[in-house]
Amino acid sequence: METAKSAATPPSGVIVIFGATGDLTARKLLPAIYNLTREGLLAPSTVVVGFARRPKTDEQFRQEARQAVERFSRCQPVEPDLWNHLAQRLYYHQSTFEDAAGYRRLATRLAEMDRTHGTGGRRLFYLATSPTEFETIVDQLGEAGLGNIDPFSAQAWRRIIVEKPFGRDLRTARQLNERLHRVFDESQVLRIDHYLGKQTVQNLLVFRFANGIFEPVWNRRYVDHVQITVSETLGVEGRGGYFDTAGVLRDMIQNHLMQLLTLIAMEPPVALDADAIRDEKVRVLKSIAGYGPGEAARWTVRAQYTAGQINGAPVAAYRQERGVAPGSGTETYAALKLYLNNWRWQGVPFYLRSGKYLKRQSSEVSIHFNSAPGVLFNAPGKMLARNVLTLRIQPHEGITLLINAQKPGAVSLPAPVHMDFEYHQAFGSYSPEAYERLLLDALSGDFTLFIRRDEVEGAWSIIDGIEQAWGQGVAPLAFYEPGSWGPAQADTLLERDGRAWDQSGQDPDYAI
Ligand code: BG6
Repeated sequence: METAKSAATPPSGVIVIFGATGDLTARKLLPAIYNLTREGLLAPSTVVVGFARRPKTDEQFRQEARQAVERFSRCQPVEPDLWNHLAQRLYYHQSTFEDAAGYRRLATRLAEMDRTHGTGGRRLFYLATSPTEFETIVDQLGEAGLGNIDPFSAQAWRRIIVEKPFGRDLRTARQLNERLHRVFDESQVLRIDHYLGKQTVQNLLVFRFANGIFEPVWNRRYVDHVQITVSETLGVEGRGGYFDTAGVLRDMIQNHLMQLLTLIAMEPPVALDADAIRDEKVRVLKSIAGYGPGEAARWTVRAQYTAGQINGAPVAAYRQERGVAPGSGTETYAALKLYLNNWRWQGVPFYLRSGKYLKRQSSEVSIHFNSAPGVLFNAPGKMLARNVLTLRIQPHEGITLLINAQKPGAVSLPAPVHMDFEYHQAFGSYSPEAYERLLLDALSGDFTLFIRRDEVEGAWSIIDGIEQAWGQGVAPLAFYEPGSWGPAQADTLLERDGRAWDQSGQDPDYAI
């Protein structure tokens, strides 16, 4: 997490990217490697090997990599000298993922690089392919002896980064874990959730545990409920084929929203090390009250977008997207309520929602505190606003506290106002991309921002309960218009409890 730990330059090593010609490599990984080089955070002799099926020379790969960096890096323009330095250490390795000989050739090349670049037997394998390839690649790395740590070198290591989705349910996640563990032990496996690489997500722990005033009220005695929203204005963006097999519950809630939930709800860890933090996150997952069909029927909403407009431009219905089955029942929006059966949170509802093609992009967590006693200031028919602490992850990164203040005027009643902290005002606009931080931590061997085996399996066991109930038809699919805030049923979910979804992310100026 964003802690007192220093950002020391990790030792050099070889980053082997499987799926080197894919979208993730172009959009995120190569720009992150360039930006880290630019910031002087990577050892100058770090080497990158792109592993993919298509025939290509090193030179072609370098040119494509440069185009990707020019297009997607946050730092522009690309500096020619810096690029030339980096390009000399970019290589391409052509092989299919099934071809054992391709991995043996890779092993030979990596050993050669240790000699020519001084990479010391340190290898970071990055699975940036389709998840259908993960197990094959892991098996082949094992066959070629590439997972084994060199017993003669204390400085050598082998690590593997696994992209999401990590399985599609508890069974497949366990199966993938077992395959990984045949070759790598847990201390070598880094499961990515890119939300953990976002600075504002890391700040959740700093905010909670580096300030004395919040922790005493961070519990069932003072908190009425908690809301976690990740709303997107984008649709499935050409990923219909994948998305239709997943849905927003698996694609967003199982990972990103569950991670936000654990960070918000966890107990203070005994130390800021990876296992101490992950132990506490796992305890939160274990305390989530299980979902049977009854809870899923009452506490979940699933919906899909119809045809409509986003910012004045027409968009097709989800069922018309490329790769999506014409009668698809996959949800592009989900909302749910859950409870944590533990001492701190018992009885406090957590409401989670996420969806595609919604009105505004907004990732935020809000803590709604109990109202002040209504004996003094409540006007007839008008309740005092609750204090709400909103932690905005993106955009407009910052923190807002809603408080009641005296409104000027002859007959005045308390009115809600915002106390605001904006990241960019306090710290400027420098904000490294999530993948920069994650790659750096992977090279440094800091596992804090990666998901441990029991975490991923714990999150899946909650999601499995909901999916199974949905499979029995307990939550019929609703529909919503693109550019709206989702289906009316999601509003009803909170209205039934006398509550309403936050308005803050819905209003660009955060007007109340
Ligand atoms: C990914 C999901 O994990 O996160 C995408 O697969 C989603 O569907 C994306 O769009 C959202 O990430 P961010 O960083 O844009 O909030």
